[in-house]
Amino acid sequence: MTAMLIDGKAHAGALRARVAAVVAGLREAHDLMPGLAVVLVGEDPASEVYVRSKGRQTREAGMASFEHRLPGSASQDEVLALVEALNQDPDVHGILVQLPLPLQIRADLVINAIAPEKDVDGFHISNVGRLGTGQRAMVPCTPLGCLMLLRAHHGMLEGMDAVVVGRSNIVGKPMAHLLLGENCTVTIAHSRSRDLRAICKRADILIAAVGRPAMIEGDWIKPGATVIDVGINRVPAPELGADKTRLVGDVDFGSVLPVAGAITPVPGGVGPMTIACLLANTVTAACRALALPEPDGLGL
Ligand code: GUN
Repeated sequence: MTAMLIDGKAHAGALRARVAAVVAGLREAHDLMPGLAVVLVGEDPASEVYVRSKGRQTREAGMASFEHRLPGSASQDEVLALVEALNQDPDVHGILVQLPLPLQIRADLVINAIAPEKDVDGFHISNVGRLGTGQRAMVPCTPLGCLMLLRAHHGMLEGMDAVVVGRSNIVGKPMAHLLLGENCTVTIAHSRSRDLRAICKRADILIAAVGRPAMIEGDWIKPGATVIDVGINRVPAPELGADKTRLVGDVDFGSVLPVAGAITPVPGGVGPMTIACLLANTVTAACRALALPEPDGLGL
């Protein structure tokens, strides 16, 4: 048996097309152009790549993209002042402050300064609490993308045993809440869990979000399980030449493929869904701002 590949690139393309169609309708019927502001502080090269990609995909979906760059030496007050200006700007429906921030800036204060209804990352304490209590929230993009892939593959997830490996605020914890909302039986495990292998082996759905390259191996997997690999780890690849690297997930793809029922590859699995969900969240935020009905297919 070989696991079915869950094609995140194709699902993300379909979601972006849906976003673009909704945006065209909003512009036509309501003269509403959803706008996303991205704030980048400093010159982290990986963040530069992400921010450029977010801007390009935002424009391609027919939305307004506002990019704000501050020097790595920017003060806490400068960043907070920019966030406050974006909160007040009616053309901005979504605000994303790219992480990580320079050390002199407290990320928690900046995130919690974003108006919760514009917090398209879903990191504001109010959105965290709303998701945790089952109220309407902005949902973090990566877990939302994972849930969309799971729903597309399985339909109903009710009653399934789901194990989330990783307890980050960005992925692990919100993922667990989303799966609880689907009536899964949810276990959160992490790098310090005792007998992680035995815990993983119980999972009908395994979410790997621990940030360790190829840690989860084939004999950790229940035969037929669905494996969602959130990891993006760059590792040396001497087989490709000196100084070459390649991306691998948290799952040891080669040994898991013959055991799992379905699996997301890295790259081309969860990754492309994250930005597509960011666009979807921005459209959702714009509709809520104008008290318009929320379009189907963009969120929960
Ligand atoms: N840096 C890496 N991932 C993310 C993300 O999902 N949101 C933000 N704001 N920064 C990030």
